[in-house]
Amino acid sequence: MAIQNALRGRDAECATLDRLVEEVRSGKSRALVLRGEPGVGKTALLDYAIGSAPDLRVLRAVGVESEMELAFASLQQLCAPMLDRLGRLPGPQQDALSVAFGLSAGKLRINSWSGLRR
Ligand SMILES: Nc1ncnc2c1ncn2[C@@H]1O[C@H](COP(=O)(O)OP(=O)(O)OP(=O)(O)O)[C@@H](O)[C@H]1O
Ligand SMILES: [Mg+2]
Repeated sequence: MAIQNALRGRDAECATLDRLVEEVRSGKSRALVLRGEPGVGKTALLDYAIGSAPDLRVLRAVGVESEMELAFASLQQLCAPMLDRLGRLPGPQQDALSVAFGLSAGKLRINSWSGLRR
């Protein structure tokens, strides 16, 4: 990929990301934690992955210090664009998200999250 040429010394990381994108494209669920020292190139690698997947829907969330006290702030960022599909989730996960986002009253049971699938 064009962007990969600009990422010096990142062939292995780009290959890992290529594999992950390909697996997601084929319908598999994948997670990857990308971590490193400040300025080491994390965002550049994420941009590479996003650039290699124009056919996939990309959702982003960022940690904002002022939102630390807000429950589920990052989850809101991630899920807000897809809330119209809430009804497609199984009952327990639907209930959990509805309560977490203040769409319905209720008590949130943390184990409601287990088994959450797309
Ligand atoms: N492999 C690379 N080859 C060339 N330039 C790179 C590479 N990785 C990153 N850069 C450049 O280095 C700078 C810092 O990269 P980047 O912003 O991706 O780091 P980061 O790990 O996300 O930093 P932060 O921790 O501050 O978020 C950017 O200008 C980016 O374009
Ligand atoms: Mg960054």
